[in-house]
This record gives sequence, C-alpha cells and structure tokens, in this order.
Amino acid sequence: MILVTGGAGFIGANFVLDWLSIYEEPIVNLDKLTYAGNLDTLADIRNDARHVFMHGDIADRETVAALLEKYQPRAIINFAAETHVDRSIHGPEVFIKTNIVGIFNLLESTLSYWKALPPERQAAFRFLHVSTDEVYGTLSPTAEPFTEASPYEPNSPYAASKASSDHLVRAWHCTYGLPTLITNCSNNYGPYHFPEKLIPLTILNALAEKPIPIYGDGKQVRDWLFVKDHCAAIRRVLEGGKAGEGYNVGGWNEKTNLDVVNIICKLLDEARPRPNGDSYSRLIEFVSDRPGHDRRYAIDAGKLERELGWRPAESFETGIKKTVEWYLSHQGWVDNVTSGAYHEWVSQHYGS
Ligand code: NAD
Ligand code: DAU
Repeated sequence: MILVTGGAGFIGANFVLDWLSIYEEPIVNLDKLTYAGNLDTLADIRNDARHVFMHGDIADRETVAALLEKYQPRAIINFAAETHVDRSIHGPEVFIKTNIVGIFNLLESTLSYWKALPPERQAAFRFLHVSTDEVYGTLSPTAEPFTEASPYEPNSPYAASKASSDHLVRAWHCTYGLPTLITNCSNNYGPYHFPEKLIPLTILNALAEKPIPIYGDGKQVRDWLFVKDHCAAIRRVLEGGKAGEGYNVGGWNEKTNLDVVNIICKLLDEARPRPNGDSYSRLIEFVSDRPGHDRRYAIDAGKLERELGWRPAESFETGIKKTVEWYLSHQGWVDNVTSGAYHEWVSQHYGS
C-alpha cells in the first residue's frame, strides 16, 4: 500500500479519490485535519476497506513510526502542508512548523523505516514530496518559464517554507540515499477547492452577490492546472520518476487574475443568471495588493513530457467549465466548508 499525507485537503483528497477509482492498492491517509482538511470530501469512500484514515501530524514521529511499522507502505506521497500565501503573511509560524519542521520529522521517520527494509524493497521505495512553482519566485512578462534548473528565489513566507522543505528532501537523498522525488506544480483548481483561494472564492462570492476581491491591478499571471491532471502527473512521477530528481508540473495555461475572474463570471452569467440581469463581473472590486505579490509564474513542464510522457488532458476552458458546474451542483459540501472558522478568516483578511 501507499501512505498519503494531507489526503483530506484539496489536492490530496482528489488524489486519494482518483487513485481508488483506478487501482486496487490501498491507501493509508494521515491528516491533521487543520481548517483545510475536510472529511466530507472523502465521504464516498467512508466504507471502502482500501482507505484507512488516520488523524495525526506529520511532525509526530511516534505516530508516523507506528503507522509505517504497521502498514509497511511501498511509497509515501507528502501533500501535507500549510498552503495559503495570505495566511502565511498574517501568521507565518505554523508554516515554519509544518512545512519545515514537520517535513524534517517526516523525513527522519521515513529514513529509519527505509533503512530497515530489505534491499529490494529499499530500491523500490519512493518518498514523493509535492511542492510548488512558488519556490522559483517571480518572472518578468517576457521571461522564459521556470525549468527544473531555475534558481530558488521564494518571496512569501509560504514559498520560503516550501523551498526549505524541498532543500531538506534533496539533502536526505544526497546524504542518506533516501529515494526521493519532488514535483513543483503551478496553481491547481477543480472540485473540493477550499474557498480561500481565488477560483472558488470568486465562484462562491459571485453566487452570494458579494464583492469579488482582486488584488492590485489584477494583471498578475498564474499558470492554471486542473487538479485531476496534477494527480495524474504525480502518479506518473511515482511510477517512472528517477530517484533524486525534481519534475515541474504545469498546465501551459497562463492567465491574468482578471481574465480568470471574467471567464468565471461569464460562465455563471450563462449557468445561473443574476436576478437583476447584470453580469457577475459587476461585482469585481479592486482591493489592496498582497504584500510581496509575485507578478508572474509560468512553468515549463517539458521534462515531464519528454521523460515520462505526461501532458495535461484539460485546457483552462474545459477545466474551468467543469469546476463551475461542480460548485453549482455541490451546495451541501459548500455549506459545510463555509461555516464557522471560514467566516473568521474572511472578516480578518478582507474586513467585514
Ligand atoms: P490544502 O491546504 O487544501 O490541504 C492541506 C492538507 O494538509 C489539509 O488536509 C491539512 O489538514 C493537512 N495538514 C496540514 N498540516 C498537517 C500536518 N502537520 N500533518 C498532517 N496533515 C497536515 O492544500 P492543497 O492545496 O491540497 O496542497 C497540497 C500540497 O500541494 C501542498 O504541499 C502544497 O504546497 C502543494 N501545492 C498546491 C498547489 C495548489 O494550487 N493548491 C499547487 C502546487 C503545489
Ligand atoms: O502556484 C502554486 C500555488 O498556487 C500553491 O503553491 C499555493 O498553495 C496555492 O495557494 C496557490 O497560490 P496563489 O497565491 O497563486 O493562489 P491564490 O488562489 O491565493 O491566488 C491566486 C492569484 O489571485 C494571486 O495572484 C493572488 C490573487 N488573488 C487571490 C485572492 C485570494 C486575488 O486577486 N484576490 C483574492 O481574494
């Protein structure tokens, strides 16, 4: 079986659901259930014997050691992290705790387990660390996209903590021989995305007739990848990636934030017209910029295509249509995630 950490979050849960729909191989899922972890997302596999959920922290060496001893996974895929840039600006400490100290502890637990495996299982074992394009910093409008050789220049506390985690993973490979893989992916979107991030926030604010906040001039560029394409890329890297290597994952879909929001508004105008007949785009409000806001990310995912034959299946146009339709048809999931602590975050960050 495989061990997934952070498998109750957005990408981790999509990965678990997709995996179990393709393979018979079971998954142990270790998640701390922070505000971003949501067992509702895993409701469809509640009674599936191939999925074992464990509530716990990657930093807790005793829990992780016991889990590894009991389930003897052939691979670990680490999704667990604090992930929201704006939260890292308000409160960086938890990002240091989970994304740096947590990874250090997870690597130490994994190394002890791996060292005790017989040689053929040691050789087949993989520790796959899921990381981000934000470690590379920002690009000018005309610069070439980031490759695996781009220097690390993280600009936010979140990006710096993920960059640190990548360095630790690399060091545990170079120094101790742990067979690691790192994936650096661009912005994901799709089902089960927590509505603190731009795309689900836009959909839900629009439907609630609330302002759609755009930071600064809205001309920042992100490369968008449908979450299921990211999950497919991770499966491919796990299967065929070379130990010790890193792989960029991206959608070849660069868009400004303003374009993304306008596309969503247009889809909603068609699917659920506003009672007053206006376009949802009239709800756009320009608000103060994010401090240290990276202007542009762009990913060259050529290595993954050349070496492992992966390319995204969705264009932004097809993926965003599926995403909007998903949110329109999953009101129950939305109601559960937008209660309680979510409101505290919204009023802390955007004001009431
Ligand atoms: P998320 O915030 O939706 O979910 C994170 C999950 O990790 C939650 O279920 C949370 O409970 C769990 N978690 C947090 N701290 C933990 C700890 N100490 N121990 C165990 N579990 C813990 O995140 P996501 O968007 O699904 O991102 C998953 C991974 O992918 C992260 O490592 C992130 O850096 C990376 N990534 C995300 C994106 C994106 O666009 N969302 C893009 C590239 C890379
Ligand atoms: O690039 C990969 C990264 O993508 C991941 O590593 C992160 O975990 C993930 O959160 C995401 O980071 P971003 O900061 O790019 O995503 P977010 O959805 O927060 O913001 C996308 C863009 O939209 C960014 O330029 C900021 C802007 N934005 C965001 C919010 C929440 C707004 O203009 N208004 C908003 O209210």
